[in-house]
Amino acid sequence: MEMVELIREDKDAYKTAQLLYSAAIKKIVAKIEILNEEFQQVHNYNPIEYVKSRVKTDKSIREKIERKGLELTLENIVTQLDDLAGVRIVCSFIPDIYKMANMIGAQSDLTVLSVKDYIKNPKESGYKSFHMNVKVPIFLSDRVVNTQVEIQIRTIAMDFWASLEHKIYYKFEGNAPEYISRELRECAGIVSMMDDKMFALNTAIMEEKAKMEQEIKNKDTSD
Ligand code: GTP
Ligand code: MG
Repeated sequence: MEMVELIREDKDAYKTAQLLYSAAIKKIVAKIEILNEEFQQVHNYNPIEYVKSRVKTDKSIREKIERKGLELTLENIVTQLDDLAGVRIVCSFIPDIYKMANMIGAQSDLTVLSVKDYIKNPKESGYKSFHMNVKVPIFLSDRVVNTQVEIQIRTIAMDFWASLEHKIYYKFEGNAPEYISRELRECAGIVSMMDDKMFALNTAIMEEKAKMEQEIKNKDTSD
C-alpha cells in the first residue's frame, strides 16, 4: 500500500508514518553498509567515508509546508514533501558516487522514483550532489507500506561546501547579498578543483603501487 492510503485509514497515522520513515532509513543504511563491506572485501577499498541520516523534524516540516503555501495536513505532508526520510552518503571520490548510485538503483526490492544529477548540472548556488528518490517496502504486522527516502550522494568536498553554505545562507533566509552568493559559488569551484586533484592523485598513486608490485614480481621470477 502507499503512504497516502495508510494515512487515510490509520487513526494513529502520524505516529505510524514516523515509524515507517525511520524504518525506511534503517533499511537503506543497512543496504549501504553491506555494499561498502562487500567493496572492502572484493576490492580492498572503502568507497564510503561516512553516512548521515535523519527524519525531518516537525519544525522543519511545518516551515517547508508553509514555504510551499500549503495547508498543514498529513496528506500534504506525505504527498508534497519528498525528503521526510533523508540519507546522505559521503564518498571519497566522484566515480564512487556513480558506483553507489548504480548499485543502489539495481536492487530489486526498491524503486527509483527520480534522479537529479547536480554534479553534471550544478545548481545556481554552486551546489553539487547526486540525488535519488527511492521507495522501499516496509513490512508491518498486517500491511506493507511503500516508503519514500531521499538519498543524497556526494564527496567529502561537496559535503564540506554544502554544510557550510547551508549554515551561512540560512542566516540570510535566502536573501544573501550578491557578493556573498558570488563568493560562495567561487568556493564551490575551488572545492570541485580539489575533488578533481585528489582523484587524479589517487589514480597516480594506484598506478605507482601497481608498477612497484610488478617490479617486485619480475625480480622474484628472475632470481
Ligand atoms: P526542496 O524543496 O528543497 O526539496 O527542493 P527540490 O525538491 O527541488 O529538491 P532538490 O533536489 O533541488 O534539493 C533537495 C535538497 O538538496 C535540499 O533539502 C538540500 O538538502 C539540498 N540542496 C539543494 N540545493 C542546495 C543548495 O543550494 N545548498 C545546499 N547547502 N543544499 C542544497
Ligand atoms: Mg525535495
